[in-house]
Amino acid sequence: MGPGPITVDPRVLRAMSAQLVGQYDPAMTAYMNETQALFREVFATTNEATVLVDGTSRAGIEAALVSLITPGDTVLVPVFGRFGHLLREIAERCGADVHVREVPWGQVFTLEALEEAVREVRPKLVALVQGDTSTTMNQPLEGVGAMCHRHGALLYVDVTASLAGNPFAMDAWEVDAATAGLQKCLGGPSGSAPLSLSPRAVEVVDARRSVEAGLRTDPGSDDGAAPTGVRIRSNYFDLAMILDYWGEERLNHHTEATTMLYGARECARLVLEEGLENTVARHRLHGDAVLAGVRGLGLSVFGDVAHKMHNVVAVEIPAGVDGEAVRAELLHDYGIEIGTSFGPLAGRVWRIGTMGYNARKDAVLVTLAALEQVLRRHGAPVAPGGGTVAAQEVYSGFPA
Ligand SMILES: Cc1ncc(COP(=O)(O)O)c(C=O)c1O
Repeated sequence: MGPGPITVDPRVLRAMSAQLVGQYDPAMTAYMNETQALFREVFATTNEATVLVDGTSRAGIEAALVSLITPGDTVLVPVFGRFGHLLREIAERCGADVHVREVPWGQVFTLEALEEAVREVRPKLVALVQGDTSTTMNQPLEGVGAMCHRHGALLYVDVTASLAGNPFAMDAWEVDAATAGLQKCLGGPSGSAPLSLSPRAVEVVDARRSVEAGLRTDPGSDDGAAPTGVRIRSNYFDLAMILDYWGEERLNHHTEATTMLYGARECARLVLEEGLENTVARHRLHGDAVLAGVRGLGLSVFGDVAHKMHNVVAVEIPAGVDGEAVRAELLHDYGIEIGTSFGPLAGRVWRIGTMGYNARKDAVLVTLAALEQVLRRHGAPVAPGGGTVAAQEVYSGFPA
């Protein structure tokens, strides 16, 4: 019950135990096409350029940024938690001239503040996290893409922790590049990063296209980028090459991680069988139940709760309680893992997640009951039954 990775849905585990097929086997290429179509629906986009990047969510981020940023480009990174700092760091490594704007942890940016920063910085790219797991905040994105486009910038969004647990509408919100992972609300393991690029973003990547020597039919030519662009600095994360591999040409690049493809496909199938809106609503319901439950125990919640992600809550560790000892006891006595925190929040909050397969009533109620017992043993003044009663009220829709 942490902020991810989470307990993997058994259907995903089963899908991942299937035998491998060759990378150009018609079954494999059909799975690839199908997975692209499924993730278009999960991202709420019609983007042709919707693929998996092999690697954890960070691989998706690196692929998007190294492919979109030409060294020297101006990039704006609004930071409201640890993962904003990660975007800044990766953008710097890509050779960008990075400008950062920050709000205190526990808050998000207003559209006006973002626009003011864009006016000042005049970036080519704005790189933003939607749900920053480190603070649990969910950055509102409506209007941000259109604002970026008015000012001639592209918008990249990291939706690793938020996708399928909170609304995300790639096309309606004019997001140019988005990357995710499986290990949060999608109910899978880490190791595959779904990614989608708008036609505008594909244009940028296409201008930097290069084809490896040994694959070209005209072996005399050099393997530099298209004449208009600077070659993408990473081979593995070169999205032009990755798109060629996933495209009709199936131009060889890496060997697609077949087992991860099976897993990612099953994650998307699970979401779409339930319905994307229903999946989001389930995360909201169980997130609300945890929120009510921890408050019912008499605990405080960190940050601007109105902008909290549905799928994770940051609970203030009561004064005098050893947060790590509580986590250890929950794990050893009850088999329940809750999350620790990073940076300024380390030792101050626990993070309790309800994501993917763990966004379930039984998981929520057992976690709250166990937390109550452990906190009482640690001398915290918790309300007897306060957690489960408050959560049940959320489930029943009226006071128990
Ligand atoms: C918002 C966000 N971005 C990026 C990452 C990095 O993901 P990974 O560890 O899969 O590379 C995480 C991981 O928790 C995350 O929550």
